[in-house]
Amino acid sequence: MSDEERSYTSILLPGARVALFTTDDETQASFQGLESDWRFARVKLETVPGDVETAIQRFSGTAAPDLIIIQTESIDASFTDRLEALAEHLTEHTSAIIIGPVNDVNLYRRLVSMGVSDYLVKPVPAPVLAEDIAQTLLEQIGASDSRLIALLGSKGGVGVSVLSEALAWSISGELAQKTFLLDAAGGWSTLSVGMDFEPSTTLPEAVRAAVDHNEDSLTRMIYQAGEKLFVLSSGGDVMLDDSADAQGYETLLGYLMGLYPVVIVDLSGAPSALKRTVLTRAHQTLLVTAPTLPSVRATRTLLHEIKDLRGGNIEDVEVVTNMVGYSPKFEVPKAQIGEALERPPTVSIPFDTSLFVSTESEALKLYDQKGGDEIVKNLLRILEKTLSVSANDLGGDGDKKGGIGQLLSKLKTKS
Ligand SMILES: Nc1ncnc2c1ncn2[C@@H]1O[C@H](COP(=O)(O)OP(=O)(O)O)[C@@H](O)[C@H]1O
Ligand SMILES: [Mg+2]
Repeated sequence: MSDEERSYTSILLPGARVALFTTDDETQASFQGLESDWRFARVKLETVPGDVETAIQRFSGTAAPDLIIIQTESIDASFTDRLEALAEHLTEHTSAIIIGPVNDVNLYRRLVSMGVSDYLVKPVPAPVLAEDIAQTLLEQIGASDSRLIALLGSKGGVGVSVLSEALAWSISGELAQKTFLLDAAGGWSTLSVGMDFEPSTTLPEAVRAAVDHNEDSLTRMIYQAGEKLFVLSSGGDVMLDDSADAQGYETLLGYLMGLYPVVIVDLSGAPSALKRTVLTRAHQTLLVTAPTLPSVRATRTLLHEIKDLRGGNIEDVEVVTNMVGYSPKFEVPKAQIGEALERPPTVSIPFDTSLFVSTESEALKLYDQKGGDEIVKNLLRILEKTLSVSANDLGGDGDKKGGIGQLLSKLKTKS
């Protein structure tokens, strides 16, 4: 498995049910091993001793789960005929993976043409099975190609919102990716100033529309900020009202990830429940800190908590130090920040009030400003793996074609 694939499924999978029909001990062990994989925390795994025949019996009377995996020893027409018989009992929602005894391209093609998601040859090691199931479940919710990028601050006012906006402009502009910038702060959101729109909805209303599958209503709540940049026009919330619930927010996130290849979530000002939801699902998290002691301490605590939340996996979290030079005498030096966090901050951004406050107040694009282009380029560098783009393609010499031409081969632009 390549690094790219690993990061692509290194997220908490959506809630789903998966049933395996097999009599093979090795397959069973691989499958049951997924119980301890943090990504599968919400996936219900059931092993049924048997084969395609057992599956037909089982699902002729009861609803099938989201994914069934069937292991077979025979791969001739007797098997595919029975698979067709099984398909009659399944709705379109159920996906299938077949495990067989030998590699057979013709069989593979035939199975795929029947709607089977994949054909694996035994023995199937746990990581391969995990990857295949993860991809299938993500494809089911239409989010398989999308990347979720979360920005979180170790305290308020460290620049999460301005950096989220800067990234959204450059990924949608320079990198020409259809991008959605989502805020999680409800009435505390400052997005409408930074992106220059009049809020027309609230976060709970948008969540309700997503939960009710009310696409017309959701479409009306989306503000198009740029040719390829879209934002949820929320922020009309009463500041002291309760925000959206986490489960509903995740539904909204799933809906957006089905439509936009890149979704950026600004978590500054979000309630903890929404922060947790997004951090477990994010392909990449930028944790923003100021170089001051309280902020660095909080960053250290947050790194531990995110690590726990993600089952020990913290590879996809990067620390960004912002406002360096704000109060040089009282700042923690870069080397000490690295020691305290057991990782060097990936990007340091200077304190520059005229650049940042003017960009924010006048709804400008940071990468268009003198000094801002370099900052954005450094931030994009962190995201190159997640976005499947090379740092060399990120422009900076004014030639934006190179970036657009070669990037993000894996990210299909969804229409
Ligand atoms: N590097 C920086 N130098 C100077 N001002 C900054 C810098 N980064 C952010 N700011 C300013 O700090 C304020 C807080 O930033 P904001 O993005 O709203 O923080 P957060 O979303 O983390 O609460 C804003 O006025 C913003 O323009
Ligand atoms: Mg903010």
